[in-house]
Amino acid sequence: PLEGQSPPWYPSPAGGTVPQWSESYKKAAELVKAMSLPEKVNITTGTGWQMGLAVGNSGPAIHVGFPGLSYQDGPLGLRFADNATAFPAGITVGATWDKELMYERGKAHGNEARLKGVNVLLGPCVGPLGRMPAGGRNWEGFGSDPYLQGVAAAETIKGIQEEGVIATIKHFVGNEQEHFRQSWEWGLPNAMSSNIDDRTLHEMYGWPFGDSVKAGVGSVMCSYQMVNNSYSCGNSKLLNGYLKDELGFQGFVQSDWLAQRSGVASGLAGLDVSMPGDGLTWAAGKSLWGPELTKAVLNGSLPVSRLNDMVTRVVAAWYQMGQDDKSKFGGEGINFSSWTNDEMGFINAGSPDDKEKTLVNKFVDVQGTGDDAHSIIARKVATEGTVLVKNEGDILPLSVDGWPADQPHNLIFRIGIFGEDAAEGKGPNACDDRACNQGTLASGWGSGAVEFPYLVNPMAALKEAFNKDRVYVTEFPTNSPPMKQAPAVLNDQDVCIVFVNSDSGEGYKSWEGINGDRNDLNLQKDGDLLVKQVADGCGAGNGNTVVVVHSVGPVILDKWINHPGVKAVIMANLPGQESGNAIRDILLGTVNPSGKLPYTLGRSLDDYGPGAQVLYYANGVVPQQNFSEGLYIDYRHFDKFGIDPTFEFGFGLSYTTFEYSNINVAALLPKSPLPAPERLALHLHNWTTPSPTQVQRCFLVDSASSRSYDEVQPRSEAGGDEGGNSDLWNIYASVSVDIKNTGKVAGKEVAQLYINYADVEGDALNVDYPVKVLRGFEKVFLEVDETKAVQFNLTRRDLSYWCVKKQNWVIPDQGRITIRVGASSRDLKLTGWY
Ligand code: NOJ
Repeated sequence: PLEGQSPPWYPSPAGGTVPQWSESYKKAAELVKAMSLPEKVNITTGTGWQMGLAVGNSGPAIHVGFPGLSYQDGPLGLRFADNATAFPAGITVGATWDKELMYERGKAHGNEARLKGVNVLLGPCVGPLGRMPAGGRNWEGFGSDPYLQGVAAAETIKGIQEEGVIATIKHFVGNEQEHFRQSWEWGLPNAMSSNIDDRTLHEMYGWPFGDSVKAGVGSVMCSYQMVNNSYSCGNSKLLNGYLKDELGFQGFVQSDWLAQRSGVASGLAGLDVSMPGDGLTWAAGKSLWGPELTKAVLNGSLPVSRLNDMVTRVVAAWYQMGQDDKSKFGGEGINFSSWTNDEMGFINAGSPDDKEKTLVNKFVDVQGTGDDAHSIIARKVATEGTVLVKNEGDILPLSVDGWPADQPHNLIFRIGIFGEDAAEGKGPNACDDRACNQGTLASGWGSGAVEFPYLVNPMAALKEAFNKDRVYVTEFPTNSPPMKQAPAVLNDQDVCIVFVNSDSGEGYKSWEGINGDRNDLNLQKDGDLLVKQVADGCGAGNGNTVVVVHSVGPVILDKWINHPGVKAVIMANLPGQESGNAIRDILLGTVNPSGKLPYTLGRSLDDYGPGAQVLYYANGVVPQQNFSEGLYIDYRHFDKFGIDPTFEFGFGLSYTTFEYSNINVAALLPKSPLPAPERLALHLHNWTTPSPTQVQRCFLVDSASSRSYDEVQPRSEAGGDEGGNSDLWNIYASVSVDIKNTGKVAGKEVAQLYINYADVEGDALNVDYPVKVLRGFEKVFLEVDETKAVQFNLTRRDLSYWCVKKQNWVIPDQGRITIRVGASSRDLKLTGWY
């Protein structure tokens, strides 16, 4: 196909092709067989915006006992809910590099969803991937690398779904910026098109979706914008070809809210559920499906086999999570309303006909208690997702008496805490969907944000922490007036801790000219000036300044990072409700920092390359974003062009030191791969073979191509099982290294493994491959002097590149693949080969 064009891929592969789902599919097929046509349609179509208590609601199939389902955001916590946890955001989870914590946070999030009666949770989020560091919603995901995103997503999904809740991986795919993600927010006739080539799709933007499907995710949300000039939710190549055939996705595809832009065509292209079910505009009540879908089936525009598959996919996912088991899943439906905080409210708040209030908010407290309190896991993630990037002269950790015990100190120790970001401000819930930057920043804004049950602010937590007989704390919780006008506050301080931040969010809300995507990577609210003035004046010029940054993503630190007064810098990301407790643990050394950067901190936005620029001005009727840099985003770009970042991807300091030794690479399987396994053909409704006329119709409605075809697409050689060919997930090589804690305190290290093709020979010699690509990480706890062996498993997919010509994952079989292990992407200590 032409560049930026999406080829047709029809007909839509039916679900039920892998053994791990076959029981659920059998049960689902039985149930679906008994449904009437309108009942089936009910399940595929949302009831409309604010028609039902959740952000998305589907209708029931009453006669067979299948309930209406509630779909609720995600991914930071339960949106619009009371008595629920405000977890740290995805970017903070990514910064922990801790698989266990990723899983546990997912489980706690899933548990809250289940107890609130939510069937489908609208998270986790891995798209945006972070192509543009200023992208408004990067913070909902786990960092600017597909491998890190993929592992975090899979762990999160396992956690959520073990609780019986259907997880949704979103947004599929290429939703890298908020500007022009759809038309109506931006006054355009069309959304933009993210033009992504095949190899980049496989190795970058699609990669974490592959992990998610492998993890058994029940739902995928297609994104608002177009991919290669065909709307994601109507893109047959993406949904039918890539997701359902090649990746073997067994669950259902739901549209982002109003992302469905066509009726029959999107159904044929692989969309299964239309949300929120309004049609092309909010609350229009003119669904593209609903009654229209019924008509389309009756007049033959949409094969009934396709409708059956849509419904069976939803019902199978419901069985797969055990939602039919009332002892586990309550069965009473959602017990809170997204549309009112009062106890009594309307079930259908969006309808003028709903005149009777009923009990809608039962205020069920789902935060857990005792050892199971979710605040514990929220705090752990916030603490371990805090990244120490500078600590000159080991100024940190401080002690409760001020200086660490082994350093000289005054009898009275003075600490000044500066910046609006340190303090409560108007509280975390002052603005709708958190769309304003005020007080301490603990979350970005938009549908991924939640009502905070509480927010422990850093100022309060720190004040409480210090020994009041020895330490005198001065509060200066504002960014203005500039410190120069108040030097007295600064003169006396031994240590000045200054809090600064940078916020962004989803495009339907703006704050101070930030329309979702940030306009630059600078600190907001004159943060740079605040840091400089504090650092200049602290201790009359002899003080020690510690900077804490709360941020949605990369910020430029270069204006002051080398200021002699700035002794320590902490990237605290978006910590959620436990913010103050987490930063106190790190500053006082109660917890040894172990977070690592999930993105590169560059010296300027330009350093990230031309592809990293948000398209702020529409460049056409269908704005075009060409992802021409291909694989080269974030650290891959910095490496390729030899650009020095301020702090590299994967970097983070500890209060101890680690030593790496003894790399060992074991080749477990030869480089020649196994072919794709046979797909199970369940033929549950005998609906797998479309009639020639149906295929004909499919090609007629494909707008992106004038190519005709008259046969069923060949099945992908890279597919066959859930997540693709099962051989892709076999371990071809394992690598072990020894890590020793050589410092004075216990701590955790994140060992990272990167590969490259520098020593590859033969045909693959000419494969363009990045200087390094993350393909493994392990977090390990070590007591002082302790040594542990850390093992990494490399799958066939990990070692392969996507060969466009062969349409398959290929491990170069001549020469050798270089494997490097170390403490960050630029601190690689050991080398081995496979
Ligand atoms: C639009 C957002 O893009 C998506 O992430 C969210 O799940 C839906 N709205 C529902 O709130």
